[in-house]
Amino acid sequence: MRPRAAAPVRFRNVTAVTVRVPAKVNLQLSVGPLRDDGYHDLVNVFHAVSLFDEVTATPAPRLSVVVEAESGLDIDAVPVGPDNLAARAAAALAAHIGVEPTVQIGIHKAIPVAGGMAGGSADAAGALIACNELWDAGVDEATLLELAADLGSDVPFALFGGTAVGLGRGERLSPVLTRGRFDWVFALADGGLSTAAVYGECDRLRAADGGPVPPPQVAEGLIAALAAGNAETLGKELRNDLQPAALTLRSSLRSTLAAGRDSGALGALVSGSGPTCAFLAASEDHARDLATALSQRAVAKSVIQAHGPVPGATVL
Ligand code: C5P
Repeated sequence: MRPRAAAPVRFRNVTAVTVRVPAKVNLQLSVGPLRDDGYHDLVNVFHAVSLFDEVTATPAPRLSVVVEAESGLDIDAVPVGPDNLAARAAAALAAHIGVEPTVQIGIHKAIPVAGGMAGGSADAAGALIACNELWDAGVDEATLLELAADLGSDVPFALFGGTAVGLGRGERLSPVLTRGRFDWVFALADGGLSTAAVYGECDRLRAADGGPVPPPQVAEGLIAALAAGNAETLGKELRNDLQPAALTLRSSLRSTLAAGRDSGALGALVSGSGPTCAFLAASEDHARDLATALSQRAVAKSVIQAHGPVPGATVL
């Protein structure tokens, strides 16, 4: 009888780890009153869509970030220093496990910058997963979600993916049951909007209005439409409390939304804090027609098709 082989030694000979991370659209973004800590309690129904950034972690003498993009995407506003949220994610994970963050974070962007689709949050989630793998750190999912929540309200969802409701700042996630797939068209705008500025404008508009701000409630009709896979009902149920603020700050979005509705979208709304606008279609073919119609009407810088739900951050 041959002697039993010794347990294999685990070699880490990884030179780079690449993680694919999705953009999100908010199907419901209901915003409660301003809290003492400067945040708002939310009911935030996140939906991950098939528009992806890729984040690559490579061993390097020190922490650095390089960013490149799909043609036509403006990345001038993306910081390449330690302020980049993905760099902060790598530093946070390194501090947590007690190592130096000797890594280069390479980001290939397809998600619009400051566009209301959580591109920066996606990159941070990608960096957490990529460094966890590169450093063979074995940090568990619950801890990664905690580190993610410290980095930003939308970062945990970029790990989570699918469709989920986020409570609190949006970071306390539970999955939402969906059936089938939903087809979307996104109209990208020139330039971004600051999330903090849009929340601030929302508070200002509400103060001018004078009425009390009720606590946010889950839209049961929206949850039922998702479970049934009913795009027509979902289109009517989409809602975003930040939309009036985004439209005040960027009035051209009114004609973008109107063009989508006129072209037969089942639903049209500003994505998160904007300025990207999201249009729900009945099918992939319908989305293609809608994308063509929107391109012809020249109401956006560019138009892209995507579908959801898709998984969260995934190692390639
Ligand atoms: O959490 P994150 O850094 O992404 O938030 C950016 C800004 O958006 C915050 O500084 C705050 O002004 C606003 N925000 C908010 N309430 C939330 C989430 C974000 O007011 N639930």
